[in-house]
Amino acid sequence: MSLFDLDKEDALNKAKARHAVLVKKIRDADKAYYQDDTPLMNDADYDSIRSELEGLEAKHSELITKDSPTQTVGAAPAKGFGKVKHKVPMLSLGNVFSEEELEEWLAKTRRFLNMGEDAPLEIIAEPKIDGLSCSIRYEGGKLVQAATRGDGAEGEDITENVKTIVGIPHTLPDDAPDILEVRGEIYMGKADFEKLNAEQEARGGKVFANPRNAAAGSVRQLNIEITKERALKFFGYALGQVSEELGQTHHEVREKLKAFDIPETTYALGHDRAALMDNYNKVLEERPDLDYDIDGIVYKVNDLALQERLGFVARSPRWAVAHKFPAERAVTKLLDIDVQVGRTGVLTPVARLEPITVGGVVVSNATLHNQDEIDRKDIRIGDYVVIQRAGDVIPQVVEVLFDKREGDPRKFEITNVCPRCSSLAIREEGEVAIRCTGGLICPAQAVERLKHFVSRLAFDIEGLGAKIVEEFYEDGLIKSPQDIFTLEERNKGTLTPIRAREGWGDLSEKNLFASINERRKIELNRFIYALGIRQIGEATAKLLAGRYGSIEDMREVMQQAVDQASEAYTTLINIDGIGASMADDLIGFFAEGHNGEVLDALAQHVEITPYASPLSVDSPVAGKTVVFTGSLSISRGEAKAQSERMGAKVSGSVSKKTDYVIAGEDAGSKLKKARDLGVTVLSEAEWIALIA
Ligand code: IVH
Repeated sequence: MSLFDLDKEDALNKAKARHAVLVKKIRDADKAYYQDDTPLMNDADYDSIRSELEGLEAKHSELITKDSPTQTVGAAPAKGFGKVKHKVPMLSLGNVFSEEELEEWLAKTRRFLNMGEDAPLEIIAEPKIDGLSCSIRYEGGKLVQAATRGDGAEGEDITENVKTIVGIPHTLPDDAPDILEVRGEIYMGKADFEKLNAEQEARGGKVFANPRNAAAGSVRQLNIEITKERALKFFGYALGQVSEELGQTHHEVREKLKAFDIPETTYALGHDRAALMDNYNKVLEERPDLDYDIDGIVYKVNDLALQERLGFVARSPRWAVAHKFPAERAVTKLLDIDVQVGRTGVLTPVARLEPITVGGVVVSNATLHNQDEIDRKDIRIGDYVVIQRAGDVIPQVVEVLFDKREGDPRKFEITNVCPRCSSLAIREEGEVAIRCTGGLICPAQAVERLKHFVSRLAFDIEGLGAKIVEEFYEDGLIKSPQDIFTLEERNKGTLTPIRAREGWGDLSEKNLFASINERRKIELNRFIYALGIRQIGEATAKLLAGRYGSIEDMREVMQQAVDQASEAYTTLINIDGIGASMADDLIGFFAEGHNGEVLDALAQHVEITPYASPLSVDSPVAGKTVVFTGSLSISRGEAKAQSERMGAKVSGSVSKKTDYVIAGEDAGSKLKKARDLGVTVLSEAEWIALIA
């Protein structure tokens, strides 16, 4: 052996030893981070250990083993999960909170279907288990993919994690459809949750607030070994994409799923409010004895053909609704009242409470809504108050326990000065809200707008969460939306790069820029929503995106619409779902010079793609404007929903721009106007033939 070889061997031995140390450090850090939710080190330190390990392995490839942290999924927290586009969107549910609201939902559903008030309508009632929704896809009888809901259109790939959940079949019997997506809920039983928390506590790890958080935290683990150790369960409650029908009713679908060994829950069938209420009360009584947390009952129209006709509104189906259990309440002391400034400048009083556990969650803040609420309930600092918490809703102060009030505490009054920027805060006529007039000079509004801009239904920039937006704003890194897109450029050559900030490192910096760059292309509907225009939510943003096609066209129209006598204005308020007050906010937004500057600047950095409306189908009426008048065989609601599904726009009034007027029996003035203007008039039968 030559001296040279000895040197080499020595170097390799040294590298081996160092490698072992680094691997152990990373494993310990991973375990602490993933399993115990108590990180041992910050990102920067973690990154530097990892890059040292990568460097070593690059030099000595013989050190790369299959289970080296550089080769396993669990080792890279910043890498995250892959994305999965849902073939059929994963939606959420509307809520009812009382017997009256349930009755109203049943009546509305019957009305939509043009059914008589007492016509039988079969409903299935299922428990609403509080966990996280998941879509499991089988192809050729094999479990091939599992995904979280995400924003409903795109979720995270958790296939490997889901495969570890006991009870979820990996293969289906031969008679299962070739493609079958089962939608359901992953959850943790109460006993398993208690046990997990006891273990966490014993090893000094973080305890989870409730079974739902524990389930979510256990599934979203890059190291599937951890998921495997956690006692997770699943039940199926609906279908996503299927290559073959499983039945004609939800009940039949459930029976089929059961036959495929997909875990199911109990359910009840009912026709009317009385039967559904009986079931509700029975389950409510059984609730404490169940081994899983439920937060309500889900009602579903049983007949799938009716489900199809009912369809969806925004993000929830018309054919299902959640009947929530009463909120949980507790008494605590009101320590103070702070005033928060929201995205649109609204000043909201927030109660600071002596921390108390309500339904398994520690609550220390609650909303007080507005000054009127405080006055009406006569809430004063120092009072003992009843607070309630329902599901994910922000806790609320319900009432004051007056017999526990000591002395005569001073009344609380929101001042007319913004607590953040000292601009005048005013209460507009007819509004309960008091608003800061500072606009974007108000740091609170600017930051809230930025947070909204990057939020999940808007630009959805991973790694740019609320806390970081606040920090970056404070430090002047991001003052306005367009700054997000110049961040990487400005970071180059600076003495204070992001990676040098506390808690940051090379990897997290790289990941941040990658997720920003991923969003340089964005759909118009998301872009409009991201602007944070008052009253313009996700659904309205889609409506506008579908109507105007591009941001340039939209801007132009909004500028013309300043003149209320203009056609632009009339068209705008004639869009179904847009009222005069929304129109005011829209026009106001685009008339504001500063907003124009932001839009111009953004245009330099982002490419806005057309809204791929699920409605813009290939149909003979796509893009056409239609008006219904007179009485039709189906309800007006269904006619409207059906047309929209075919890509048509439904308007409430006839103008030169109307393409078709569909005239039912006893049509009146709209029919006359259509004839006067020479608009094509169709009978209901002709319309049905056209869209068939
Ligand atoms: S049906 C389009 N059924 O509740 C159909 N959801 O608040 C939507 N959930 O996202 C879901 N139990 O995660 C349905 N029996 C049940 C459910 C259930 C729990 C969850 C699900 C959904 C959320 C909506």
